[in-house]
Amino acid sequence: MRVVKSIQPLRQLIKQAKQKGKTIGFVPTMGALHEGHASLLKKSRKENDISILSIFINPTQFGPHEDLNKYPREFNHDRRLAEQGGVDILFYPSAKTIYPREYLTYIEVNGITNLLCGCTRPGHFKGVTTIVGKLINIINPDCMYVGQKDAQQAVVIKKMVSDLNFDVDVKVCPIIREPDGLAMSSRNRYLSPQQRREAPILSQSLKKAKKIISSGERNPQKIIRLITSNIKQNSTGMIEYIECVNADTLTPLKILTGNILVALAVKFGSTRLIDNMVVRS
Ligand code: PAJ
Repeated sequence: MRVVKSIQPLRQLIKQAKQKGKTIGFVPTMGALHEGHASLLKKSRKENDISILSIFINPTQFGPHEDLNKYPREFNHDRRLAEQGGVDILFYPSAKTIYPREYLTYIEVNGITNLLCGCTRPGHFKGVTTIVGKLINIINPDCMYVGQKDAQQAVVIKKMVSDLNFDVDVKVCPIIREPDGLAMSSRNRYLSPQQRREAPILSQSLKKAKKIISSGERNPQKIIRLITSNIKQNSTGMIEYIECVNADTLTPLKILTGNILVALAVKFGSTRLIDNMVVRS
């Protein structure tokens, strides 16, 4: 595995690979790698000749009161996991390499970034699309792999790629969960033992909702009420949102039909967890 920190040497390696006709798969991450990230890498390895994984804790997607400084930084652990997972090139740029002094250019997707997580995290998706757009331009991959765990992020990235005609195929991979159902996340480590015991209520509630929608329920308010009471009765989690939206466009649904995304964000103390499930009806 090559660890590359600068853009020019990375481009050189990629150019050489492309000249040999090799395909490039790309997995963008912020490090603190876990099995969720590993699943994206596995798919990339299966479908491409060369897999590139980036680790960059992107300051522009964190709000002023969010956990940028607290975000786990564990490069040696990540490097080991990346190597074990079969990464060919690990791109690990500094903040200065990505955002040199007097950096001025941003990519912003309108509309769908103001819903769901966008309500409480203004500017977050602007940071995400800017970094992902930059990484696509630097790497020029054939395929890019993102997780359904961040359902809104996946839809927003796909929209940017389509609207701006980026020449990359975005593949959305399923959520990887702990044995008790909790969606894997770098933030799970911040849960206290009590909060960690409570947190599986999120996926359990979503599973119940899925069952009820699949058996014919069409009223989103009933689903939202059910999940709300389930979480409130069984945990100390503070609900930020629970919504039923169209899974492809994120439009809120008045009647549950088509590809339905049931998505939620719940805070356990200062740790904000998100989860979702897609139901096709
Ligand atoms: P990060 O949180 O490190 O996640 C990197 C990728 O792994 C994202 O596509 C995310 O959806 C996926 N992922 C995380 N947990 C997962 C799980 N339990 N199952 C499946 N996939 C999972 O998301 C980001 O970083 C950043 O916003 C980024 C896209 C890298 C831009 O900075």
